[in-house]
Amino acid sequence: MLEEQTFHVKLHDRADFCCGVPALDDYLRRFAAQQSAKGMACVYVLVDDLHPRQILGFYTLSAAQVDAQRLSETDGNKLPRYPVPCFRMGRLACRSDRQGQGLGKLLVGCAVERCLQAHRLVGAFALLVDAKDEKAKAFYRHYGWIPCVDSPMTLYLPLR
Ligand SMILES: CC(C)(COP(=O)(O)OP(=O)(O)OC[C@H]1O[C@@H](n2cnc3c(N)ncnc32)[C@H](O)[C@@H]1OP(=O)(O)O)[C@@H](O)C(=O)NCCC(=O)NCCS
Repeated sequence: MLEEQTFHVKLHDRADFCCGVPALDDYLRRFAAQQSAKGMACVYVLVDDLHPRQILGFYTLSAAQVDAQRLSETDGNKLPRYPVPCFRMGRLACRSDRQGQGLGKLLVGCAVERCLQAHRLVGAFALLVDAKDEKAKAFYRHYGWIPCVDSPMTLYLPLR
């Protein structure tokens, strides 16, 4: 059974993870634990309980903010002119040999669910993401994420 867990270096084999994007593999190997310890990001991994050390995919969440002018006219016009509180999914990746099997969708669903939970305790308008390329952007657009007007590689998903 697939399970989402908080990343822990003693429980999860980060060296074995490869998603095809060296910067994301490197992040998981070298920076994820540090960033988590410093409170910069929460790192979540997806594992199969039959192979609980193997990381199938991961994502990170952090607090963020966005200027309302960067949002679509419909959203931006309803918001105040000072930075709007948000969450940011800083990284998202699935291991190469498991891509295209629905794990990315599952991870995004988990991230949104966590943000909706946090959103009950801490105000936040949307979940932000920076797509690293057009392919990643198309993936987010597929799920209804909206590009920011000034930087279309940054997308947001309203949490309302
Ligand atoms: C991007 C990534 C996380 C997607 O995960 P995945 O497991 O391969 O995707 P899924 O199998 O869950 O796809 C889910 C859905 O998205 C669609 N989809 C996947 N990639 C897509 C793309 N590039 N454009 C449009 N739709 C896409 C699938 O068709 C599927 O649609 P459905 O739910 O209607 O059937 C994964 O490919 C990955 O790790 N890539 C390398 C790292 C990366 O680019 N991360 C993004 C950083 S911004």
